[in-house]
Amino acid sequence: MNATDILKNEHRAIEIVLNAMDAAANALEAGRDVDPALLAECLDFATVFADKCHHTKEEEGLFPLLQERGVQREQGPIGAMLHEHDEGRNLLKSIRESLDSYNTGDASATESLIESMRCYVTLLRAHIFKEDQVLFEVADAALSDKDNEQLVKTFDEIESSKIGPGVHEEYHRMLDELERRTEELTSSYRPTGT
Ligand SMILES: [Fe+2]
Ligand SMILES: [Fe+2]
Repeated sequence: MNATDILKNEHRAIEIVLNAMDAAANALEAGRDVDPALLAECLDFATVFADKCHHTKEEEGLFPLLQERGVQREQGPIGAMLHEHDEGRNLLKSIRESLDSYNTGDASATESLIESMRCYVTLLRAHIFKEDQVLFEVADAALSDKDNEQLVKTFDEIESSKIGPGVHEEYHRMLDELERRTEELTSSYRPTGT
């Protein structure tokens, strides 16, 4: 298994959370209540699984090794991906702040919550597409079998140090439930008979 396969699998998991955020933003915009626990779960998943774990594997594992193998950082694909990780972090901060206000009953926070979740979903979907379609193709061509082996080890170490052993698997188990709740959220405001 290439190291990029691990990252691609994680992208599929992150997309489930993006779909949940998207459905939540649509429901809020339609004036419906959304379970604060669902919103908190999406934010937690995006913060811990996507940013702290997945993005760190790229930033501390994949990207430095690609640079060593001649892939350009500044003015190149690595620099662009790093910039988007930072943008994502800023948006997560906005989501967190809006959600805190929303949870205290501040109705004016709903609009900023919708906006920041939508921006995050759009950014991450495009980011994932670029990595899957371009950067990981470059990586698969540039990295040797030994590089891949080393990266997989580095990913394991990052997982243990950033989120602790077993937590990653726990997040994957949460995803089935999140998918089910997203479907509920989407179907709950479908017009009757459709
Ligand atoms: Fe990334
Ligand atoms: Fe990624």
